[in-house]
Amino acid sequence: MTLDVASAILNRRAIKQFDPAYAIPDSDLERILDLARRMPTAFNIQNWRFVVVKDPDLRRRIRTVAWDQPQVTDASVLLILCADINAWEKSPERYWENAQPDVRSAMTAAIDQYYRGREHVQRDEGMRSCGMAASAIMLLAQSMGYGTCPMDGFDFDAVGALINLPADHEIVMFVALGKPAAPPKPSGGALPRTELVIENAFPR
Ligand SMILES: Cc1cc2nc3c(=O)[nH]c(=O)nc-3n(C[C@H](O)[C@H](O)[C@H](O)COP(=O)(O)O)c2cc1C
Repeated sequence: MTLDVASAILNRRAIKQFDPAYAIPDSDLERILDLARRMPTAFNIQNWRFVVVKDPDLRRRIRTVAWDQPQVTDASVLLILCADINAWEKSPERYWENAQPDVRSAMTAAIDQYYRGREHVQRDEGMRSCGMAASAIMLLAQSMGYGTCPMDGFDFDAVGALINLPADHEIVMFVALGKPAAPPKPSGGALPRTELVIENAFPR
């Protein structure tokens, strides 16, 4: 099944009940993650890291520090989207390996100039990148007949310890992905466009 983007957006819901017996084929998961990696990152630093948690015992332990939410154990996979906060300084020339040498060295210098000493920018960039990847993952999964639940209802430090999160990485969010076992409850509803869309600048 292939849905267009608008249909995937309109049909996606946060799934709370997954079929625990369903295993997503590796090829589908690879396709979702390979396409999600085509989303943009600033300076192409690709500072997202995707932890694919399948191990049932680890999933049970994560659930205990995630408000006992069943999606953590019952989805086919639990994706933990992490940001490598120091990606900007880890051999940044490789982010521009396809570029001409002069472009590559200019971009490498620009990356250093933009991020060095700006810890909040480094962290925010990880949040932006993973947010975009999460959206792509959810819409791709939807278009392939799966359901997802974005999640931040968990103890970030405890989950970090369980997955051996490196010191210079941050967990951004989970995306639980699998076969829905029950339709979601009615949507909470959308605020009016007039409250959310501002023309040119906020009123004084
Ligand atoms: C960043 C983020 C964190 C969320 N955390 C949780 C969570 O921990 N548990 C949960 O059941 N739903 C969680 N949700 C789902 C939201 O409650 C849900 O997306 C929202 O109510 C809109 O409903 P819909 O996704 O079905 O349209 C989260 C959503 C987002 C975007």
